[in-house]
Amino acid sequence: MKKETVLSGIRPTGYLHLGNYFGAMRNYVKMQNAFNCYFFVANWHSLTTHPDTKALQESVFRVIAENVACGLDPNKVALYVQSDVPEIAELYLYLNMLAYKGELEKTTTFKDKVRQQPDNVNAGLLTYPVLMAADILIHRAVKVPVGKDQEQHLEMARNFAERFNFRYGPIFPEPQAFNFGDNLIKIMSLDGNGKMSKSENQMATLYLADDDDAIRKKIMKAKTDSGPTVPNSLKPDYIENLFTLMRIVSKKEVYDAFQENYNNCTIRYGDFKKQLAEDMVAFIQPIREKAAAIQNDKVLLHQIMKQGAEKARESAHATLQEVRKAIRMIY
Ligand code: ADP
Ligand code: TRP
Repeated sequence: MKKETVLSGIRPTGYLHLGNYFGAMRNYVKMQNAFNCYFFVANWHSLTTHPDTKALQESVFRVIAENVACGLDPNKVALYVQSDVPEIAELYLYLNMLAYKGELEKTTTFKDKVRQQPDNVNAGLLTYPVLMAADILIHRAVKVPVGKDQEQHLEMARNFAERFNFRYGPIFPEPQAFNFGDNLIKIMSLDGNGKMSKSENQMATLYLADDDDAIRKKIMKAKTDSGPTVPNSLKPDYIENLFTLMRIVSKKEVYDAFQENYNNCTIRYGDFKKQLAEDMVAFIQPIREKAAAIQNDKVLLHQIMKQGAEKARESAHATLQEVRKAIRMIY
């Protein structure tokens, strides 16, 4: 049976953190055998906010390196950079003719950006969902693993696909957001304020690039309290989060022992955090070292990117041929 096509875009915002790893990366890695996977770095999308392009360039290299270090196998998936696949830009152009100003202006992410950067409300920002639809439709992907915040964009991609099919003929399947259900782990910030995120408190975020001392320091500073006084009491969410981290990086016996200490009110958070810190160091260290090695090896990086672009362009070219035929843009 033909494998279903899965696609997701990764924004080159640099430094992946533990939330990205357990919320996204780990699931991509699990999917690479069962599906026909396309994962790409959305560097054109980044231009909508006018970033420093030197930093953006380094970020693209880092995202590729970190994703490979986390287990994405460039021989199994197409791992590529958006701007290496010019076919996406042509499809974006056709889809733009089917996207209406009114609906684009109503998009939540657009309205947020207008608020954040009122002096730079450019047309690329307005048509961000059209470019995203082109990313997906160019490979005729059916499953798109994304977070909740991207569901509106997915709905728009379905609308553009449907309009295209209606006007020119049935070329595109309708892509659906892919939900990992029970596998979805939400990692909270170490200070107990909301989810771990790049844009929040950096001392409360564990990056895959953090050195051993930084990891220890951050965990030792994580929010705790004076401990439970009633046996088997419910854990406050910041304690629950530390246990979640321990469950994913420590041995089961270790986790179970601290769990028991908590339940009989003998837990000492100092010891608990020291153990968690050491297990976290052991978890992050190999990923960090592998990512750094790949990032410093520009020959390897370029080879990975070239291989990914070739795979992606082959599929993109095939779709674009169909699209051109359907629109009669062939002479
Ligand atoms: P950030 O919030 O750090 O900017 P992104 O919005 O770029 O992260 O998210 C990239 C992916 O990582 C998404 O699939 C998102 O669901 C996942 N993710 C981000 N933060 C967390 C978290 N704290 N816990 C679980 N998953 C997360
Ligand atoms: N908009 C997505 C984000 O902010 C990134 C992205 C771009 C994407 N193109 C995509 C995600 C295509 C999935 C499919 O995270």
